Amino acid sequence: MSDAVRAAITGTGSFLPENVLTNSDLEQIVDTSDEWIVKRTGIRERRIIGKDESTATIATRAGRRACRDAGIDPAELDLIICATITPETPCPATACYIQRDLGASKAVPFDLSAACSGFVYGLAVAGSFIETGRSKKALVIGAETLSTVTDYQDRSSCILFGDGAGAAVLQPTSQQDTGLRYSVLCADGEGWDYIWIPGGGSRMPSSIESVTGRQHFLKMRGRDVYKFAVEKMQWLLSDCMKACDLKPSDVDMIIPHQVNSRIIMSAAEKAKLSMKKVYMNIERVGNTSAASIPIALDEAVNRKLIGPGSTVVLIAFGAGLTWAGAVVTL
Ligand code: ACO
Repeated sequence: MSDAVRAAITGTGSFLPENVLTNSDLEQIVDTSDEWIVKRTGIRERRIIGKDESTATIATRAGRRACRDAGIDPAELDLIICATITPETPCPATACYIQRDLGASKAVPFDLSAACSGFVYGLAVAGSFIETGRSKKALVIGAETLSTVTDYQDRSSCILFGDGAGAAVLQPTSQQDTGLRYSVLCADGEGWDYIWIPGGGSRMPSSIESVTGRQHFLKMRGRDVYKFAVEKMQWLLSDCMKACDLKPSDVDMIIPHQVNSRIIMSAAEKAKLSMKKVYMNIERVGNTSAASIPIALDEAVNRKLIGPGSTVVLIAFGAGLTWAGAVVTL
């Protein structure tokens, strides 16, 4: 047995708001149809926060569930990373609110902005903290309230997004072939304007003009993103499998960023992996950016599709442009 310390996922949790926004609801808002949305994206409905909910509140609920699943008190946490592009406030970090609400006063809290790749980035960062002995109990959360940055006058993007949060607790293990076995983090800043929110930052501070110009909403070059996503999802899957010397039969489940069922299917097909091994909840949840993978991971665990010993490949891409993958054995 190797002496190397690895970061094991010891608990998962997720939270979806109760409000449901269906394709037929969207038909009342923009010129679209249930048939078009289902055919092009695989999405039928998504969840939207209620008036008393926000990124920190849903993140805290997911985080608390992950701690419970790991059998730890949140007060024992020493690290909280919140991956989000829809923070509670620009300042302070969402993770600071979560730290307070969980009563995790010993935890170092910070946010990580890598859009839909954020949870996998967060897993890699927390994994490094654990491997170097700097953290013993880390909580990584992906939480988004994309409904707050979605332009419900833009039919090409508003059909995609939903709200939700997912979380995982990481703890050290010395068991061989368990835990975070590999991660790959990539980005190409040349693609900054494929998916972006122009207003509200230092480049375009909030003003009456920025608000009336709808500049605080997410803009997306859908077709360009689609092409990029197909290529990167295929590459990530093959890179992760090669790095860990995995044959298709060694992979128990692929948990992709729930972006578009067509993009996900093309990646699985290229890797010669059956869609039976690909976890999909996009139909019910839509695209929840950084929350997408941890929500899907938690659902797959709860449905007993995966459990101790299962090898799972996580693949994601998003604004930045960023893309990231990881291999985890539970
Ligand atoms: N309903 C009906 N028609 C629509 C809609 C809609 N909601 N949206 C676009 N159309 C129309 C277009 O106007 C266009 O019409 P035209 O041919 O008359 O010009 C036609 O449908 C085709 O449009 P495309 O944009 O080429 O449609 P496409 O098949 O590419 O599907 C989609 C669009 C679903 C957005 C796809 O491009 C996609 O999934 N892209 C990836 C998006 C993505 O991954 N985003 C990640 C962002 S996540 C993040 O970072 C937070």
